[in-house]
Amino acid sequence: MPAIEFRNVSKSFGDRQILKSISLTIDEGSIAVILGPSGTGKSVLIRCLIGLLKPDPGGQILVFGTDVAAIDERRRADRLKLYAVRKRFGMLFQDGALFDDMTVGENVAFPMRHHGGRMRESEIKARVADKLARVGLKDAVEKMPSELSGGMRKRAAFARAIAMEPDFVLCDEPSSGLDPVMAATLDELILEMHRELNIGFIVITHDTAEARLLGGRMGLLNKGELVVPFDATDKVLRSNHPAIRQFFDRQKDGPIQVV
Ligand SMILES: Nc1ncnc2c1ncn2[C@@H]1O[C@H](COP(=O)(O)OP(=O)(O)O)[C@@H](O)[C@H]1O
Ligand SMILES: [Mg+2]
Repeated sequence: MPAIEFRNVSKSFGDRQILKSISLTIDEGSIAVILGPSGTGKSVLIRCLIGLLKPDPGGQILVFGTDVAAIDERRRADRLKLYAVRKRFGMLFQDGALFDDMTVGENVAFPMRHHGGRMRESEIKARVADKLARVGLKDAVEKMPSELSGGMRKRAAFARAIAMEPDFVLCDEPSSGLDPVMAATLDELILEMHRELNIGFIVITHDTAEARLLGGRMGLLNKGELVVPFDATDKVLRSNHPAIRQFFDRQKDGPIQVV
């Protein structure tokens, strides 16, 4: 059974339909890439996945057996289910922003203090040390973010994203705004975490080079629809679908239009 399954998920805001009957599956511990031009609904898809947005009636979003689309936050039992689902996801935000006025260690401890139930101080400390060691920053715990290089700050943001020991890390345009070298460093980190910690990654991007490099499985979203079925990246790359060719071969003309 896949860890995540979207079944005919649509999402409208008023009479604007943003997502159109999305179906896809993501296996536990795998890399999934959602590619697409901007404004096409990639972030909306991710927000539906963790229950920040409710899809239109009729679709299902099964996450480790819980249908997130069916959750009714007015019900306490459902809220608890939603929190349990969210705990399985770590987040890596666009700029990987750390809190500048906290040490690196406090940054990593942050999710544990705020979403960790009542974790003991000694447990938090041990886990911070473990996560920083895993990203190669074991001596940075007392440092301030401003004392770190750009690459080290990315690693620290990673340590924070995996602090709650998630099954998946969600990366919404992780490399957008980074120079190519920093973007490559980040992709390398994703692959390294995936290999060594067996963490799954769901990466949203408009960068075709990043999609190729990460491999795994991929879908290209255009105007809220998957243009070909969500499938192994190398298979999608070989597709002759005009939208796939336009995007990967960098053509100005084709089904994908600048909005
Ligand atoms: N909460 C919202 N209310 C209304 N429209 C929204 C909301 N969130 C996103 N949208 C619209 O949905 C479309 C897709 O947005 P988004 O998923 O952020 O695109 P992207 O693929 O760049 O991540 C955009 O036109 C955006 O304006
Ligand atoms: Mg987005």
